[in-house]
Amino acid sequence: MLVGLYIHHHCFAAIVIMRVLVTGGAGFIGSKLCLGLLRPDDDAPIWVKEEISCVVAVDNLWRGSLSNLDAVKDDPRFEFVKCDLAYPLDASAAIAAARPDVVYHLADVVAGIDYVFSNEAFVFRQNLLINSNVLRGCGQAGVKSVIYVGTACSFPAHLQSAEEGIVAIHEDQTYPAAPESSYGWSKLMGEYEAELARKAGAFDVGIIRLHNVYGRGLVDYTDEKNSATLQVLPALCLKAIRAAAKSGSGVLSVYGSGEQYRDFLHVDDVVRALLLCKTNAMNQGVVQIGTGVPTTIKRTANMIRDYVKQHLGAELDLHFDASMPEGDRGRVAVLERARDILGWKARVGIDAGLEDLFLSCLECCRSKQEARPRRSLKPIPQMEPWFDDAERNALSMYMRTGSPWLTEFRKTTQFENMVAEYTGAKHAIAVNNGTVSLTIALWCVGVRQGDEVIVPNFSMVATPNAVLLLGAKVKFVDVDDASLCVSVETLRDAITPRTKAVIHVSLNACGHGIDQISALCKKLRVPLVEDSAQSLGSFYQGKHLGLYGDVGSFSFSAPKIISTGQGGILVTNDDKLASLIRKTKDFGRSRGGTDHHEVIGWNFKLTDMQAVIGCTQMKKLPFRVKRMRQIFDQYYARLSGVPGITMLDRRTLSPDWIPWFIDVYTDDVAELAEHMKKRGISTRKVYPPLHLQPCYNGAYGSRGSFPVTEKWSSRGLWLPSSSKLSNADVDRVCNCVVEFASSRSKL
Ligand SMILES: Cc1ncc(COP(=O)(O)O)c(C=O)c1O
Repeated sequence: MLVGLYIHHHCFAAIVIMRVLVTGGAGFIGSKLCLGLLRPDDDAPIWVKEEISCVVAVDNLWRGSLSNLDAVKDDPRFEFVKCDLAYPLDASAAIAAARPDVVYHLADVVAGIDYVFSNEAFVFRQNLLINSNVLRGCGQAGVKSVIYVGTACSFPAHLQSAEEGIVAIHEDQTYPAAPESSYGWSKLMGEYEAELARKAGAFDVGIIRLHNVYGRGLVDYTDEKNSATLQVLPALCLKAIRAAAKSGSGVLSVYGSGEQYRDFLHVDDVVRALLLCKTNAMNQGVVQIGTGVPTTIKRTANMIRDYVKQHLGAELDLHFDASMPEGDRGRVAVLERARDILGWKARVGIDAGLEDLFLSCLECCRSKQEARPRRSLKPIPQMEPWFDDAERNALSMYMRTGSPWLTEFRKTTQFENMVAEYTGAKHAIAVNNGTVSLTIALWCVGVRQGDEVIVPNFSMVATPNAVLLLGAKVKFVDVDDASLCVSVETLRDAITPRTKAVIHVSLNACGHGIDQISALCKKLRVPLVEDSAQSLGSFYQGKHLGLYGDVGSFSFSAPKIISTGQGGILVTNDDKLASLIRKTKDFGRSRGGTDHHEVIGWNFKLTDMQAVIGCTQMKKLPFRVKRMRQIFDQYYARLSGVPGITMLDRRTLSPDWIPWFIDVYTDDVAELAEHMKKRGISTRKVYPPLHLQPCYNGAYGSRGSFPVTEKWSSRGLWLPSSSKLSNADVDRVCNCVVEFASSRSKL
């Protein structure tokens, strides 16, 4: 701190010249703070108005951005230093060079809730490093005052996300400390470290804990890298502006019920509190900053819808998507300490603050010409696997605990048990994919070179290829017009004394008539292998598909309802067959680690690494099954009866049916696919008839006539079918199909 003389109206006055350093100075709050320090409002504390000689912003520009500092960059008292505070020497050097009297420590790694939960260890470690490097650097540089900016995420988890009611939290409710996230933990540790430094006499410490900060930033909201963009209110504003810019759609989709609430705190109020902290709240422990007012997401969504109407003249429908997670319920601040110690009370209400934020997002989009129709349409894939933190954490836990060999072991057994329990099978045996599983199944029911196996002509190519892998012969049969699976009548005609086995494919998870097929095969003593690769989650007459045959085969490839990347599993109630399959997939031995081989076998094993993912995915299966049914119902309600579009309702054939993929049929299949593609929606043509595949084309038993397969196959298109689709996504797809159909009907 320098003491100088300042001449004013012929009077001499002593004045303190203070240098201030802001870590995270290029971020959303940091850049606003720099502005507040350099261009104080009339009611800013005196020290800010009269004593500041220099403001140094330190930032590594990972989330922060220089454009946030446009408003201050030309001020001669301002300086920017690019520095990664996670490196101790860099941090000490930056702080020493700035010679600050006051340090506002805001820097941390936070990039949205998703990021925090997917990178827990990284976030935790980086924040600990940043805190300790900054606090040590402050001690070494003789800093007088440190204002540590913490977060309400440091409150215990049960207070952060209570199931019911509004929870108002007091600062002393921090113990026992149990923050919900590594982010909350790391920020709490920083508070403790700052307190330790204070007790040791290093410097004065003020600690401010912030609730949900929002507000007009200096930031570019369209920049996905910017942490402000990831907060719920700007994200909702942007979504609404983009939805309004789209022709036709006009739906603002909100995750969850909308009943979740937050204590939304305007950034201008935060800056005011931080400036007051220096004079009012040093060495007084934690002071939390919030409005104390709970605001539901539903309310903010309604407000945003009104702004869209007022400022853009567009009508948006609100859609609360209960299928998506709504995150924390919320929490609000008790305001006593902020009032008594800091002399602070929030001034900006959500009404004024949110409209201002909306307008700043609108300006931002306009300056980037984002309001143009369709530019921001999110692509909808036809299918995508769905993994999240659960899989990431389970894998990370697996790699850390015990001595993971990665190969097939306990996790594979656990996965097998979970599938057995879910399907009701006596045995489930995991293998490395759904092609190999079919091959093993055929081998183990006795199919050998030259034998004939009946295969439906409408399937994925893996089905007949599994037969060919054994050197056996394929005999293709046509499918039934309603179920698109082979019928018992067709099989009755097709089975001859040469038939060594039948493969039934429950195409698109449809099991209609499998009971009769099973009875026929039993009667004729022909082994029945169920290719139920697409059918996990589908029951027929109370029994899971795959259990009607001697053995059933499933795939866990990426487009399946659950996936292990690659993977397959066989289910059977036959003890002897199960034992043979187990040996066959493990070199023909009855246990690992021995070189005694009882039967001919190969290495078709899964790995424990995949099984870890499989176990986690299995826990999600019941939700996905339910969700697929809802998705089908929504598609069917919108698209059945649309002229020129046919949807097959397999629910009438089997009430427990859930779809693997959503299939529609039309004479203009290529045009429909093209229409969807132009609107960012991916589709996939259904399988061509196998006998017309170039690799078959008249060879390998593919001669014959298959009119039903040809009829459906040439007209079929799979629409987006992931269980991850939101209702709004499905709506968008349906709008697109309807738009196409009505343009055709006008031709
Ligand atoms: C009906 C059918 N059979 C077999 C397979 C082959 O499974 P995988 O890709 O796991 O080898 C699939 C999946 O792709 C399939 O849909």
